[in-house]
Amino acid sequence: MIKTNNCKLIFLPKIVDGIDGSISVAESRRHVPFEIKRIYYIYDLANENAIRGKHAHKTLEQVIFCINGSFLLALDDGINKQEVVLDQPNCGVYLGTYLWHTMTRFSKECVLLVLASDFFSEADYIRDYEKFLKMVRKKE
Ligand code: TYD
Repeated sequence: MIKTNNCKLIFLPKIVDGIDGSISVAESRRHVPFEIKRIYYIYDLANENAIRGKHAHKTLEQVIFCINGSFLLALDDGINKQEVVLDQPNCGVYLGTYLWHTMTRFSKECVLLVLASDFFSEADYIRDYEKFLKMVRKKE
């Protein structure tokens, strides 16, 4: 159960082909609640102290998956905080706007896949936590 605002679990279909493996599929506006404009993946996470994320977005929407291994996703909407372990390739988390997110505790060979609603723009990032809190409080 996700209690933090601006996010939710996303379950993709899983087509199991027995000994021949499985397929999961994400289609824009069907399984993912926006038009996908960008895909990126994060890997080479061998350092057990690696920390990623530590930011929020002003307009970008994303869905994050762990397509191999596991990691810990920490979510913070400025009021509520929650941690979710992602370890299933077909179960991701929708990251809406103004949601501070941090990824840690990457397993060996962990691979993250992210589907994003727009092209990369550094101007869309909020990388300062205090600034993030001020912006969230101003919106309420
Ligand atoms: P960032 O989004 O902060 O990574 P994470 O959330 O996984 O910790 O991006 C890290 C660096 O990579 C930053 O300098 C911007 C760059 N980058 C791009 O150039 N294009 C992209 O699509 C992404 C996601 C990052």
